[in-house]
Amino acid sequence: VPARRQADTFENFDLAKNPEMRPALEQCQRVASGEAWCALLVGGYGNGKTHLAIATLSAMHRLESGYFWKVPDFLSWVRARHFEDSEPMDGLLASYRTGQALIVFDDLGAENQTEFAAEQLYRVLDSRYDNELPTVVTSNTPFERMDQRILDRFASGLVVCGGESVRGRL
Ligand SMILES: Nc1ncnc2c1ncn2[C@@H]1O[C@H](COP(=O)(O)OP(=O)(O)OP(=O)(O)O)[C@@H](O)[C@H]1O
Ligand SMILES: [Mg+2]
Repeated sequence: VPARRQADTFENFDLAKNPEMRPALEQCQRVASGEAWCALLVGGYGNGKTHLAIATLSAMHRLESGYFWKVPDFLSWVRARHFEDSEPMDGLLASYRTGQALIVFDDLGAENQTEFAAEQLYRVLDSRYDNELPTVVTSNTPFERMDQRILDRFASGLVVCGGESVRGRL
């Protein structure tokens, strides 16, 4: 988690700043308590999606034992390990597909949407769905441009995030 965001918690998420985020907060709290396996927070810029994703990590594991990946960085890491270091894809993805610790995939849709990217993300997220492993995904992408297979699998955790950007008025 980037240093400047390590203090993002449920406790300092202020619903007064954005009452429309209550359902997102509650879904992330259900993930943290083990009641739900996923949250998919989709909506406009700056309304607190990443804050809640990091807060879920903090609440569950403290920050050390979960994973926080921005999706474009994850794919760039996967590409480098596979194509430059010749690591087999299955070994590379195994811990992400079956690991029990919470994984946050931040900014789904911000990646360069190649077939390779779509396929690897689908494989990881589909496995997490199959095994109901704790996963929080955030995205700015309109539904019609999202991978419909992922949208359908994460429908139980889908929260449309409304409200205006909190950036710049903190
Ligand atoms: N309700 C809130 N209470 C306190 N801080 C908030 C709240 N909502 C957002 N913030 C803060 O505002 C900033 C922007 O929020 P954040 O990065 O979580 O937005 P986002 O929805 O992920 O935006 P983007 O879609 O652009 O990535 C962060 O510093 C975050 O901690
Ligand atoms: Mg964000």
